[in-house]
Amino acid sequence: MRLSVIGCGYLGAVHAAAMASIGHEVVGIDVDQRKIDALSKGLAPFFEPGLQEILTEGIASGRLSFTTDMGAASGAQVHFVGVGTPQQKDGYAADMTYVNAAVDELIPHLSPGDIVAGKSTVPVGTAATLAERVTPTGATLVWNPEFLREGWAVQDTVDPDRLVAGVPAGPDGERAADILREVYHPSVAKNTPFIVTDYATAELVKVAANAFLATKISFINAMAEIAEVTGADVTQLADAIGHDARIGRRFLGAGIGFGGGCLPKDIRAFAARAEELGRGESVGFLREVDAINMRRRDRAVELVVNAMGGSVFEKKVAVLGAAFKPHSDDIRDSPALDVAVRLHGLGADVIVTDPAAIENARRIHPQLSYAEERDDAIRDADAVVLVTEWDEYRRELPAEHASTLTTGRIVVDGRNGLDADAWRAAGWTYYGMGRP
Ligand code: UGA
Repeated sequence: MRLSVIGCGYLGAVHAAAMASIGHEVVGIDVDQRKIDALSKGLAPFFEPGLQEILTEGIASGRLSFTTDMGAASGAQVHFVGVGTPQQKDGYAADMTYVNAAVDELIPHLSPGDIVAGKSTVPVGTAATLAERVTPTGATLVWNPEFLREGWAVQDTVDPDRLVAGVPAGPDGERAADILREVYHPSVAKNTPFIVTDYATAELVKVAANAFLATKISFINAMAEIAEVTGADVTQLADAIGHDARIGRRFLGAGIGFGGGCLPKDIRAFAARAEELGRGESVGFLREVDAINMRRRDRAVELVVNAMGGSVFEKKVAVLGAAFKPHSDDIRDSPALDVAVRLHGLGADVIVTDPAAIENARRIHPQLSYAEERDDAIRDADAVVLVTEWDEYRRELPAEHASTLTTGRIVVDGRNGLDADAWRAAGWTYYGMGRP
């Protein structure tokens, strides 16, 4: 099938390349010339395992191309809209400027029978409003939310857990769902759940999923706060409750909390939308989820300061990690960098290292020092602080090795990713999050 993908950020670039990889002919469209130039050369504009390979293959096969010209969308049967919906500068709601602009620019290029498939994370009610503009062209709007995780984006796009299509009632909606089934033919062939529903449900599935994940993380972080005043160990607590299949262990990783380009802004936008709908109290707990999350960053900083005897002034602190999570170079709302910046603000000599995110971090926080190599960051540090649980720090950094690099013997594990006993046995004072 011929497809267009409007917006070539994390979502769109991966979607375009993944759709080409399953045999479609795809044009990716974005207003950012630099991004398009890179993608056209087969260069992934961000770190995402597997993306580089499918980009190169797609371009070489002639099935994948990129342009800034919206006119290139004409002739495609399905147009995916995957532009960003960041948090508004002066509030919690989502900024819909890019979605509205993308749809407005696309409309003159639509033909009757085309499908416009919204993938951006939007406030519930958006699709119904956009449909009023799309339907008069003879095209059909569907809402087809995306659930990809950064670091696993290619896999999640090619082989998702489930597919959701919000369609209008009637034959146009049924036809649109059938066309989406054709688009996602490999997943349909392997019986991946394909949920056909209305617009509002499809939009809500996305924000509800992210709200649930954020709540799960903040729940365990709240337990960490209780563990801290009772001497309990939150990681053992998580293991124990996680054995209950109804609860499950995933996303019960207590630490410095969630960040990134999705969960933080999505729960805020959801709360703001619920207020607009007169149901603010229904998701009032999301403000608490947000507050718990932000407190964990304070706690990590407090642990480092207390461990250093009450002040980090002029102390050398090695910060392991900058990305908001491993397998990503994304630093948007990164708890890791936030902790680094706060320590720097308290007068510490902070050296940040990260396998993928240093370039991005340096651009936004030039005031911090950076080391390309993990060992260079640790060398002569008074304290080592793990904030992104890359394997390079979690599994592949024996405490004995760290001991050869510095005489500092304080380690703060912001992700509860280290083997506390091993670090203690090597002579380090270990501090976890919500652990004795
Ligand atoms: C999230 C969702 O997981 C995806 O399903 C969704 O499609 C995506 O947002 C989106 O809306 O586009 P992502 O932002 O890539 O994906 O990251 P997650 O893997 O969800 O991690 C989010 C944050 O939570 C990270 O900072 C991570 O370190 C933190 N986290 C995760 C914890 O603190 N503890 C955990 O147990 C798990």
